[in-house]
Amino acid sequence: MTTALITGATAGIGAAFARRLAADGHNLVLVARDTKRLQEQATELHDRHGVEAEVLTADLSLDEGIAAVETRLADRRDPVDLLVNNAGFGNKGRFLEVSMADELTMLKVHCEAVLRLTSAAAGAMRERGRGGVVNVASVAAFVPRGTYGASKAWVVQFTQGTARDLAGTGVRMMALCPGFVRTEFHARAGMGTDNIPGWMWLDADKLVAAALTDLARGKTVSVPDPRYKALMGLVKLAPRGVLGGMTSKTGRKYGPQ
Ligand SMILES: NC(=O)c1ccc[n+]([C@@H]2O[C@H](COP(=O)([O-])OP(=O)(O)OC[C@H]3O[C@@H](n4cnc5c(N)ncnc54)[C@H](OP(=O)(O)O)[C@@H]3O)[C@@H](O)[C@H]2O)c1
Repeated sequence: MTTALITGATAGIGAAFARRLAADGHNLVLVARDTKRLQEQATELHDRHGVEAEVLTADLSLDEGIAAVETRLADRRDPVDLLVNNAGFGNKGRFLEVSMADELTMLKVHCEAVLRLTSAAAGAMRERGRGGVVNVASVAAFVPRGTYGASKAWVVQFTQGTARDLAGTGVRMMALCPGFVRTEFHARAGMGTDNIPGWMWLDADKLVAAALTDLARGKTVSVPDPRYKALMGLVKLAPRGVLGGMTSKTGRKYGPQ
């Protein structure tokens, strides 16, 4: 039996990964800040699918939280075969409206935690000659979309670069780049979603199914839906100035500060 560790497992895309991987018979290590929610989820997945679901409460915006997950990933006696670096959030506001402390917290969760956890996991996986890491980025990595998009561009570059460095070791790296997905993300960030057309919304369970197929195929960057594949094709062709106005505004109507 293999084990998957998922960060941000209590809601949205992370919870969809947990449901799907448990249904496929993988044991789980569920990571987030809300212990009660993690425990409820672990019990439900264990009861429904008969898998072991371990709870690891950790705040990935803090050094001690990242260190606790690094320690679990480096445990050679109870190895992790798949790491899903999924925890993330959006700040409420545009550049210069968000405090520097909040900007740095985003870099800590989206970049530093991803770097450190990938390093801890991939080191142990390389010794065993197998394993996989999915880093949840966003299509925002490919278009002008504030400091959030910049942090996700780092995730894509990091994943592509490390995939090259790990080629031939048996460790697979994949950046997952979703478009808009119905989760708790937008409400938590105080983002209005009225100007996001219905056709742009993705379902988290379908997204995860497509992502795992792409991982099995050995893709390094996954943009799982035909709608977004077509849009990203247009992004490559259209002048950056034309797209910038549209992509930097859609879904970024923030409520009162
Ligand atoms: N939804 C979208 O449209 C969309 C599109 C593209 C990419 N993404 C990316 O997908 C990933 C998942 O987002 P989602 O949409 O599923 O959001 P979500 O529904 O808000 O879930 C976020 C998860 O991350 C956890 N989390 C947040 N901050 C954390 C921290 N400091 N330490 C540990 N865990 C933390 C949350 O749990 P706790 O609060 O209990 O810690 C929760 O489980 C993110 O990286 C996001 O950037 C989302």
